[in-house]
Amino acid sequence: MVGKETMSTPVMQSAGTKTFEIGWVREQFPSLKLQVNGHAAAFLDGPAGTQVPKQVMDAIQNYFVSANANTYGAFLTSRRTNEMILSARAAMADFFNCDANDVVFGPNMTTITFALARAIGRELKAGDEIVVTTLDHDANVAPWRALEEKGVVIRRVDIREADCTLDLDDLKRKISSKTKLVAVGYASNMVGTINPVLEITKLAHAAGALMFVDAVHYAPHGLIDVKALDCDFLVCSPYKFFGPHMGTLYGKREHLQRFKPYKVRPAPDVSPECWETGTQVQELIAGIAAAVDYIAELGRHCDPTVKNRREALLAAYRATHQYETGLMSRLIEGLQTIPGVQIFGITDAKRFDERCSTLSFRLGHHHPTEIATFLGELGIFTWDGNFYALNLSECLGVEQRGGVLRVGLVHYNTAEEVDRLLAALHEFVTK
Ligand SMILES: Cc1ncc(COP(=O)(O)O)c(C=O)c1O
Repeated sequence: MVGKETMSTPVMQSAGTKTFEIGWVREQFPSLKLQVNGHAAAFLDGPAGTQVPKQVMDAIQNYFVSANANTYGAFLTSRRTNEMILSARAAMADFFNCDANDVVFGPNMTTITFALARAIGRELKAGDEIVVTTLDHDANVAPWRALEEKGVVIRRVDIREADCTLDLDDLKRKISSKTKLVAVGYASNMVGTINPVLEITKLAHAAGALMFVDAVHYAPHGLIDVKALDCDFLVCSPYKFFGPHMGTLYGKREHLQRFKPYKVRPAPDVSPECWETGTQVQELIAGIAAAVDYIAELGRHCDPTVKNRREALLAAYRATHQYETGLMSRLIEGLQTIPGVQIFGITDAKRFDERCSTLSFRLGHHHPTEIATFLGELGIFTWDGNFYALNLSECLGVEQRGGVLRVGLVHYNTAEEVDRLLAALHEFVTK
């Protein structure tokens, strides 16, 4: 539980042996000063896209001022654009723990995944199988389902509804020698469950299948390590981890070279560029590097002894994980005192390592849009609906009733915001 003294003013918080300074964090994000009807805006909408630190805004502006051109020209701004893309790949390589040439940029995770599925699908035949899950965002389901047109069979793994975790026995049953790819989310964007991706990767590989990880929701909460996971592909979207609206893909070199994306003939044939269809949003690629550097800067604040960017990222995530867990405990404990609240997912504090700080619930007979609208007028931004986690929303029986209300806590949120939310919900149920 976060101490009461942290509730009104930005203070230092101990994160293990290191220090996490919420005041410094919030100063980096200009939009956090927004007011709504005289209330400070509380951005609890992070799972749909986080706010952006000034460093990211500056990098995008600087690109326009000093480097705006297309790639591979024989002049200054074009050369600068090429250099900027290389340094953004290097930043994402530190973020993923991979080589810079294994990083692909794209417009968003959904578009990247459709393109990759189409390329992988070129090598599949009728009767081949792909495993997806009930817990996933539809962007990690629909691109694979599109291959049903070729006769590919999609197997869907069930969840345990009581705690919204993947049913691993069912997963083991669904993976077989026919499985060519297993597509699993790292963390659920609706209920926050973190999946045992390492274990699932081993199961996929033991069956000779590729492992595709959707880390979009995990990326703002936990450090990604594709080497340790040994996954074949992993995607995430910088706009969910304090960067601009884009997507990124990690792919093992051998796969990026072997699978053939659909492309125009004059564009480079070599990976990773052959995967980057058309002209990229270069100004936003500049912003991606700045987002990674922002997280690293936070890490250096928490632990000045770190030696490189990867270590700085690790220090940042260690500190933010502990801070976010404190906020989440406070939120869950507080929600449980509100009459009629039904929380979906893990609520047992002993199991908080299995979840991140994104929480969904329903409140009595109330439609989630009604609650989100009430909160929105008080400057508290939450999301209502299914957030495209359609299979999960249907499985939990809420799809026909407006889905759920989702509160997303990231490292720039505060205990005071959690308390404001809880007070507003109490007011809502008693009004
Ligand atoms: C878990 C998850 N996967 C995939 C997506 C789709 O990402 P994008 O908007 O980059 O296509 C989202 C977006 O909310 C998400 O939360």
